[in-house]
Amino acid sequence: MRVIFLGPPGAGKGTQAKRTQERFRIPQLSTGDLLRAAVKAGSPLGQKARTFMDAGQLVPDDLVVALIVERMKQPDCGNGFILDGFPRTAGQAQALEAELKKAGAPIDMVINFAIDPERLIERLTGRRICPNGHGEYHIRFQPPKVEGKCDVCGEALVHRPDDHEDRIRTRMEAYTRDTEPLIGFYRSRGVLQSVDAESEIGAVTKAIDAALGAVR
Ligand code: AP5
Repeated sequence: MRVIFLGPPGAGKGTQAKRTQERFRIPQLSTGDLLRAAVKAGSPLGQKARTFMDAGQLVPDDLVVALIVERMKQPDCGNGFILDGFPRTAGQAQALEAELKKAGAPIDMVINFAIDPERLIERLTGRRICPNGHGEYHIRFQPPKVEGKCDVCGEALVHRPDDHEDRIRTRMEAYTRDTEPLIGFYRSRGVLQSVDAESEIGAVTKAIDAALGAVR
């Protein structure tokens, strides 16, 4: 099953993708995580991407497309994947379609995370992440068991550099300008399913399960 999680920054895509990958046994492919790993490793791609990411701007299409196409070829994607944060522009959506057409494996469903933009600032300013990639927490909505520490590895949680209000606003503008039009694109292809992303985390998971269960 090949699925896209589409939604604005802070809508809950990453939180839900981690849950979906466990239940449906397909990997979460997050371009944000892949790019942050490249930045951490100091690779040439990471060095190019860093300036855009820290400013809350989108990384150029050619860099992101090359990264995700390479990732989709890994053996763990044989039964499908969840694309989290990709595609984000019309150019990325077209590149993805061309790639999947070659493989004869189209997208089965696009889950649109519908949420009032006013909720996103609170979600993102309160988010803390594990620097070792064990996921995201929220100081109020999803607190760790021990304050400030990852439940899985105990490492001190960090505040993402782009989770400050000015950069959140830049990211939201990029979403409205470049990504939101993809809702219409996928609706016209008959694969769009919206979920109420304002509900509490467990309720959103149930709605996604129900939508994806209908595909299997
Ligand atoms: P990326 O890492 O993809 O960030 P994003 O899309 O901005 O999404 P987020 O990770 O901020 O939010 P999310 O929807 O995953 O929410 P989460 O589950 O964490 O991208 C970062 C940057 O990389 C971009 O700005 C860009 O520079 C670059 N980039 C990445 N992909 C790119 C692409 N394709 N093209 C170009 N550039 C790209 O939840 C947020 C918080 O809310 C958490 O604290 C969580 O605990 C909490 N929460 C979640 N669900 C709920 C709920 N239902 N109720 C209450 N709280 C909740």
